[in-house]
Amino acid sequence: MSANQALVLAVPKGRILGELVPLLHRAGIRPEAAFADEDDRRLRFATDDPRIEIVRVRSFDVATFVAFGAAHLGVAGNDVIMEFDYPELYAPVDLGIGHCRLSVAEPAHLGAGDDPARWSHIRVATKYPAITRRHFAARGVQAECIKLSGAMELAPGLGLCQRIVDLVSSGATLTANDLVEVEVIAEVTSRLIVNRAALKTRPVEVSAWVDRFREAADAA
Ligand code: PRP
Repeated sequence: MSANQALVLAVPKGRILGELVPLLHRAGIRPEAAFADEDDRRLRFATDDPRIEIVRVRSFDVATFVAFGAAHLGVAGNDVIMEFDYPELYAPVDLGIGHCRLSVAEPAHLGAGDDPARWSHIRVATKYPAITRRHFAARGVQAECIKLSGAMELAPGLGLCQRIVDLVSSGATLTANDLVEVEVIAEVTSRLIVNRAALKTRPVEVSAWVDRFREAADAA
């Protein structure tokens, strides 16, 4: 990481972009036009500020790029931050975007008479095995996790398992797949994340960006 090189901000692709672009503008970052075009195949974008550029990656990979110092700053949900629990990450600002929740869901026919407090062993399909195991272990429930990368909502109907742990926003995906939410594990919003080594080696620049993101979030 040379001190003269532009800082790299990693952001997640997908539905967060609509909320992220106005926040970036408030923080003083105007990405080149291609950034807002989800069909553009580029992954690396200039901004109108030569001191910062943007890379667009999968939400889980934002945390990995920043933890390993390949990106100095990033935008990641606390679902992703909690799942990896990287010690190299510092998450100083709640950006107040990407509101959703991480929940346990199961088939509607099961949900009516089921009491999660009585579970002792469950099998769960999820993108979040670490959070899921931790959450259930804390109350003595053994959670056997089957790791999927998406489309968790299919798993109960196809007999892979009865429960899933996934993000819920409007609830439409659960409803469309005959599932009901039975427990909320965590409320989720996006946070600014920072590589701790970058904060030590380039403290003035990195702290200035942290302040600008904090002001941008407060101004919403
Ligand atoms: C997320 C999540 C659910 C869905 C929930 O997936 O995994 O499937 O959104 O949203 P809803 O409650 O408003 O229906 P997303 O569409 O972001 O795609 P992904 O599977 O690639 O993560």
